[in-house]
Amino acid sequence: MNYKHALMVCCSIFCGSLAFAPLASASPATDAEFAQFKSEGASKFSAEQGKQNWTKEVTSKDGDKRSCTSCHDADITKPGKHNKTKKVIDPMSPSVNPDRFTDQKKIEKWFKRNCEWAWGRECTAQEKGDFLKFLTGEK
Ligand code: HEC
Repeated sequence: MNYKHALMVCCSIFCGSLAFAPLASASPATDAEFAQFKSEGASKFSAEQGKQNWTKEVTSKDGDKRSCTSCHDADITKPGKHNKTKKVIDPMSPSVNPDRFTDQKKIEKWFKRNCEWAWGRECTAQEKGDFLKFLTGEK
C-alpha cells in the first residue's frame, strides 16, 4: 500500500464516521435540557421508560383516553395527526426531522402544554428526561 492509497483508505473511514456523527450526537438544546432535569433531581434517564410512557393512556376528566400518541405517531419516524385539528405533525425523531429538539424554549413549551393535556398534569423532570432519551435516540 503506497502513501496515497493509505490516505484514501484513512479518509474513507474517517469521513464515513463524520457523515454518521450528527445522527447520534446531542444538540446544545437537549444537553441543556438534560442538565436542567438533573439539577431538578432526576437521573439515569431511560429511553425504554420514555418509550413506555409515550403510549401510556390516561383517562381524562372528560372520560376519554389520552396519550402522547393521541397526536404523535407511536412510530416516531412517522408523521402524527393532531386529534382535534387533524393537522399533520411532523415526525418526532431527529433521524428523519433534523429540526427537532433544537430550541430549549420550544421543547419546554410543548412538554408543558402536552403533558397537561394528555396526562392532566405537568411531567416531572424524570419523565421529560426519559421522553427526550427515547425521542432523540441519544445514548
Ligand atoms: C393534542 C395533541 C398533542 C398531544 C396529545 C401531544 N402533543 Fe406533543 N406536540 C403537539 C404539537 C401540535 C406540537 C408542535 C408542532 C410540532 O412541533 O410539530 C408538539 C410538539 C412537541 C414537542 C416539541 C418538539 C420539538 O421539536 O422541540 C415535544 C417535546 C412534545 N410535543 C412532546 C409530547 C409528549 C411527551 C406528549 C405526551 C405527554 C405529547 N407531546 C402529546 C401536539 C400534541
